[in-house]
Amino acid sequence: MSISIKSSADIDKMRIAGGLAASVLDMITPHVVVGITTEHLDQICHKFIVDELGAIPAPLNYRGFPKSICTSINNVVCHGIPGEKKLKKGDIINIDITVIKDGFHGDTSKMFIVGKPSVKATRICKIAQECMYLGIEQVKPGARLGEIGQVIGAHAHAHNCSVVKDYCGHGIGLGFHEEPQVLHYDNGKTKHSPILEPGMTFTIEPMINLGNYQVVTSRLDGWTVTTKDRSLSAQWEHTILVTENGHEILTHREEENVYTQKAVQSLL
Ligand code: MF3
Ligand code: CO
Ligand code: CO
Repeated sequence: MSISIKSSADIDKMRIAGGLAASVLDMITPHVVVGITTEHLDQICHKFIVDELGAIPAPLNYRGFPKSICTSINNVVCHGIPGEKKLKKGDIINIDITVIKDGFHGDTSKMFIVGKPSVKATRICKIAQECMYLGIEQVKPGARLGEIGQVIGAHAHAHNCSVVKDYCGHGIGLGFHEEPQVLHYDNGKTKHSPILEPGMTFTIEPMINLGNYQVVTSRLDGWTVTTKDRSLSAQWEHTILVTENGHEILTHREEENVYTQKAVQSLL
């Protein structure tokens, strides 16, 4: 098992790929409204990534995935395939963007609440976002990779939510999914997990369920992952670089202001 250490030239390219992925989420935000189909969201993103960014949408044809983005609504945990389904009032949707620029990947996702947010929708989206930021806060040289999952699991459980175990964050760079696997729960082996070093790049992307942690994959399309108990699920994702002093969020968006980070600081 080996985790690649990116050179400063690689890091420059990762920063660019991350920034481009983040810009796709900003671009698509005003389009996420009642009545639009997820297929239409996919088309808009595909065109923007290819024509405006001169980049490649990594999901398209990745292990046979048929579209350029993932759109996961309500009880869909991840890997939802864009289609003819229209967004309706109260839906929660994760849009997951991965672009390749100059060979390097940037991977990020966020939740959107469509129309008037219900208490349940707001709660699961907020807890999942807090879980991601708490995980990110652990990233610094010398920390153990397992500490990320420990804080995420603790926060989710403190709020009576569960953490999906079947899907993890991942190393990222020239490869979409590189080593290591980044667990979002405590597997009891943190002391034996890798020590973080400057130049490592990986994603943190907790999937948090309102109900049970168990998930099922669609037998029809082979991709769509849903909660077994049909409860709501939310996910947020950033691509993170370990720096000399801590970390850099390579997929940071302007809208993620001090307020979001401060809110999480107060939880630490
Ligand atoms: N972007 C997802 C991740 O965070 C992976 C999607 S794979 C796909 O790792 F094939 F479904 F696109
Ligand atoms: Co992703
Ligand atoms: Co990812």
